[in-house]
Amino acid sequence: SPAVVEAIRSGMTETPDFPSEGILFRDLSGLFADADGLRTVAAALVEGFGPLDAVAGVEARGFVLGAAAAVATGHGMLAVRKAGKLPGEVLSESYALEYGSASLEVHPSTLPAGARVVIVDDVLATGGTLAATIRLMERAGWDVVGVAVVLELEALGGRAALAAATAAPVKALLAL
Ligand code: PRP
Ligand code: MG
Repeated sequence: SPAVVEAIRSGMTETPDFPSEGILFRDLSGLFADADGLRTVAAALVEGFGPLDAVAGVEARGFVLGAAAAVATGHGMLAVRKAGKLPGEVLSESYALEYGSASLEVHPSTLPAGARVVIVDDVLATGGTLAATIRLMERAGWDVVGVAVVLELEALGGRAALAAATAAPVKALLAL
């Protein structure tokens, strides 16, 4: 909707050459700090996927949106953690970074088997983060009914990477 796009555009900063030369860095801290914008955008993210049991948010920026979306829609939030933060036996999925790799982790007892989740994050770039999250949800026995991001950076091909990982719909509120 126009209100959602306006809230995103007014809450987004674009910084050239951060964190390295040639990268145009998009940050949504202004949106997170905007009471009406956060509520509107978070609700729009998880709308339209059908019945849900939880919203999954990816550390770190996906936590803000995921928690807001969960509260706005009366669900709990599954925290998908970066490696080494969770105790006990965890499931772990790694993904490639520009240099090296990183991992995401969950504890499989956090939700019941078959739980229907929508995965939320701020930005879809290469898709590595969200593809790893999809693999984690599947290994835990949870049903990914959708993936939703505020911004999709189309040139980086993330949508194709996600299509290879899931048949679930992928929603971007704003594509750049
Ligand atoms: C950023 C962003 C997405 C991811 C997108 O997270 O928040 O999660 O990159 O990139 P990809 O589609 O190429 O995987 P990052 O881990 O850099 O930082 P954060 O902890 O602040 O969320
Ligand atoms: Mg992130």
